[in-house]
Amino acid sequence: MDDFKDKVAVVTGGGSGIGRGICHALAEAGANVVVADIDEESAGKVSEEIGGKGVRGVAVATDVTQTESVTALASTTLKEMGGVDVVCNNAGVYLGGEMADTTEDDWRFVLSVNLDGVFRVGQAFSKILREQGRGGHIVNTASIGGFMSHGAAVAYAASKFGVVAYSEALRQDLAPHGIGVSTLCPGPIRTSLAGSDRLREPGEQKGGKSQALWEFIREGMEPEEIGPIVLAGIRDNAAYIYTHDFSDAFSERFQRVLKDFDRVR
Ligand SMILES: NC(=O)c1ccc[n+]([C@@H]2O[C@H](COP(=O)([O-])OP(=O)(O)OC[C@H]3O[C@@H](n4cnc5c(N)ncnc54)[C@H](O)[C@@H]3O)[C@@H](O)[C@H]2O)c1
Repeated sequence: MDDFKDKVAVVTGGGSGIGRGICHALAEAGANVVVADIDEESAGKVSEEIGGKGVRGVAVATDVTQTESVTALASTTLKEMGGVDVVCNNAGVYLGGEMADTTEDDWRFVLSVNLDGVFRVGQAFSKILREQGRGGHIVNTASIGGFMSHGAAVAYAASKFGVVAYSEALRQDLAPHGIGVSTLCPGPIRTSLAGSDRLREPGEQKGGKSQALWEFIREGMEPEEIGPIVLAGIRDNAAYIYTHDFSDAFSERFQRVLKDFDRVR
């Protein structure tokens, strides 16, 4: 996709951080944007900001952990905007915690948003994009943590590895339909992700904490900077959209993966 003018984009988790940055960049490039977020107030604020840029912004309160909510997002998008061209599947949460600290509620909290949510939104909107027959693009937000697991955030790492696998499969499936799929793998970005705890239900058994992330992201890139990087990735139909150069660490990791093939040679 070369031109975003008059296109329609949907951004989940659009009320804050990376999602908000993507919404702004899309609006500046001329796209009308549906801002979907569980936090209705922040979605409303971002859609107003977008309206100030001469395009349409529509806020839709959406919980990506609920199928009905995602179905409602899809039908509101079609009703309000008449179609969809770009889907940024970005809503996410974080919990730090080694395996010993991770409760089943922690695991569910992270996986239900970061992986099941990406699946739900991906399935609903890829069906629409296919049926429209006019191409389009999906960006699924994973992380550099989608390639490099570490013991300090096991549920998060599992969710992001899952997003990478889902995205790679979706990219192959949708290519014949002229629909691009990119996996966004941000490095440290200074957002509200370290406050994900606020979205947990009171009765849950809590082991992991989100605040642990702050040390890693507090000197990170500003989320406004990521929007143009994402748009450039969509224009090029990049398989992976990176924000930082982690190639040495990735290379080390892949060398470790390959090394044990020595045992079967
Ligand atoms: N900040 C980083 O350093 C970083 C690095 C790699 C990947 N990421 C990923 O980027 C994405 C965006 O995170 P961010 O850093 O901008 O954090 P953020 O907390 O600023 O934004 C996340 C948004 O998702 C929304 N959200 C959470 N649960 C939701 C749900 N169930 N349904 C709908 N919306 C929901 C939140 O309300 C929030 O507005 C996430 O997938 C995150 O894992 C972030």
